[in-house]
Amino acid sequence: MNFPPRAQLAQCPTPLHKLDRMGQSLGVELYVKRDDLTGAELSGNKIRKLEFLLAEALAQGCDVVITGGGEQSNHCRATALAATRLGLGSVLCLRTLDKKQPPPTRGNILLDRLAGAEVVWIDHEDWAHQQETYEREAERLRRAGKKPYIIPEGGSNALGAWGYIACVQELSKQLATLPRKATTLVYACGSGGTGAGLVIGGKAFGFADLGVSIAGVNVCDDRDYFVKKIGDIAKAFARDYAGPTVADHEIEIVDGYVGRGYAKSRPEELECLRELASKEAIILDPVYTGKAFYGLCQELGKDKERFGERVVFLHTGGIFGLFPAAEAFDALW
Ligand SMILES: Cc1ncc(COP(=O)(O)O)c(C=O)c1O
Repeated sequence: MNFPPRAQLAQCPTPLHKLDRMGQSLGVELYVKRDDLTGAELSGNKIRKLEFLLAEALAQGCDVVITGGGEQSNHCRATALAATRLGLGSVLCLRTLDKKQPPPTRGNILLDRLAGAEVVWIDHEDWAHQQETYEREAERLRRAGKKPYIIPEGGSNALGAWGYIACVQELSKQLATLPRKATTLVYACGSGGTGAGLVIGGKAFGFADLGVSIAGVNVCDDRDYFVKKIGDIAKAFARDYAGPTVADHEIEIVDGYVGRGYAKSRPEELECLRELASKEAIILDPVYTGKAFYGLCQELGKDKERFGERVVFLHTGGIFGLFPAAEAFDALW
């Protein structure tokens, strides 16, 4: 595939680690694709997408990026740091319950501030009209003589999808060094961009021929929402880059693990996160990877064959969201 221009930000290829102890207790050959190691402060899945999005921002001569997300958004933190690294400014529209009483500066918010981002607090009402919110900020910046570039929620659009096509290319080389086995790549799905890149990349790099399937565990909304969202990104990708067509039935979403809602944890999810950390020194986050891994364990508990002989869990990062959630773990100690 002909990749579009790319700003080099991520430390790649990320390693593929075998998790013997956890795999044994789950009854499968378990691997983790360490996309939490794409960097230190600039880590996780968003950086792969930002390599392409920010390259476009630079090519268009933009000097500031605008994006948004939840108050502890990993995407916003990664955007702020990546923008700074490339000499761009950033405006982050962070969603909180009451914008007049913003949350304390901790976790990702602390890193946003350190990176020099301008934080604009928005509420759920503003979020419901996200595009207008970004346009309003863009207009304000233009009036101040700036040239803004808008990045959608999660960096999830056709251009951002290239990030996870690149990851599939990397992973297919890594899997080719292992004996062939029925394998499923399991990932956390939050805004659909990672899923879209994986599904498009899986088709382009012949995952089916390698016996590899892809399954997303949604951490918000539901299966229908993500089949549509991923399908829409794939359609835009096919249009813009002559990519492969993706049918709805080729998008597998494992629904049922949103739990108490987006960014709200249940004790059993935190216990699962603790178990993986104490067995394998792999640290998940409570909002995305922790929920997806909990879903994976539950599904295997019901049916060991569910994902084939080998499971590759895609660790998409998010460690900084763990610290503001520390008190939720108190009951475990
Ligand atoms: C740590 C982490 N994992 C997974 C996701 C989900 O990725 P996507 O938004 O591409 O579905 C996100 C962001 O939403 C994230 O921050």
